[in-house]
Amino acid sequence: METFSNLDVPQKKKHSSSSHPVLVVQDLSVHFGSLADPVRAVNGVSFKIFDGEIVALVGESGSGKSVSALALARLVPEPAGRIVGGSVCFQGLDVFGLGTSELRKLRGERIAYIFQEPATSLNPVFSVGWQIGEAIRLHRRGVKVKAEVEKLLADVGLPDPKRTAKAYPHELSGGMQQRAMIAMALACDPVLLVADEPTTALDVTVQKQILELLVELREKRGLSILLITHNLGIVAEVADCVYVMTDGEVVESGETKTVLRSPKHDYTRKLLRAVPRLRP
Ligand SMILES: Nc1ncnc2c1ncn2[C@@H]1O[C@H](COP(=O)(O)OP(=O)(O)OP(=O)(O)O)[C@@H](O)[C@H]1O
Ligand SMILES: [Mg+2]
Repeated sequence: METFSNLDVPQKKKHSSSSHPVLVVQDLSVHFGSLADPVRAVNGVSFKIFDGEIVALVGESGSGKSVSALALARLVPEPAGRIVGGSVCFQGLDVFGLGTSELRKLRGERIAYIFQEPATSLNPVFSVGWQIGEAIRLHRRGVKVKAEVEKLLADVGLPDPKRTAKAYPHELSGGMQQRAMIAMALACDPVLLVADEPTTALDVTVQKQILELLVELREKRGLSILLITHNLGIVAEVADCVYVMTDGEVVESGETKTVLRSPKHDYTRKLLRAVPRLRP
């Protein structure tokens, strides 16, 4: 049986017994298509994220990872998609019970999303600095925009923040664009960052740098991160806990170390076999 006993699996981040989860998802179900014969994209999924934890949702294409992540902030595309059951509790708030303005505040200021393709999320006609500044202007009144933009660009490891702020997205490499996207997500000072396949479009070296950046942001800002990936190698590198999904359900979960060293479910073993071995 393949396990990760020969790989460096990070120690689970300790949270004290008094710390509360930032996010608790319970029995979440999301359907698409007709009422009579729906596609059960997410089927009774539960998971939680503690303060400053990196939690991974892993599973093959179509297993329901992105739909689960979108449902956290009620972003499932309607009317094709419907949240048909379950609850999401974020910092003690019942997300599915929130009104429109509270929901907008939650999305703008508490939960930030980054996606796979920075090129589709960054607007080509505005400078990077302007786009990051826009989020600050909208959500953080009283903050000095220019200084904060440059600080954010430095925080995500972009060189020469003054110059980078003036650059347009096409002037940056893929890795730099992804860093700019992360800076944009951080601009509203979120509590939870949802990173949906944030490195899939990048080459392996840049992929590693972006993962290191996520870990660093967790350490420096106490950010909680939901990381979505189909790659258990990435999970092994950065996640404290992992939830393995297939066909809209969580089939195995636990501390990353435990799950990867002694996977209990056949599907987890199958995913482990799909991870390329770089070390003997
Ligand atoms: N907009 C949509 N309209 C109809 N069905 C959808 C839509 N979005 C998702 N689905 C359904 O939900 C299922 C789960 O999709 P989801 O995007 O969550 O998968 P995923 O695990 O994120 O896959 P991937 O790794 O390819 O991103 C899909 O198989 C699809 O059937
Ligand atoms: Mg997806």
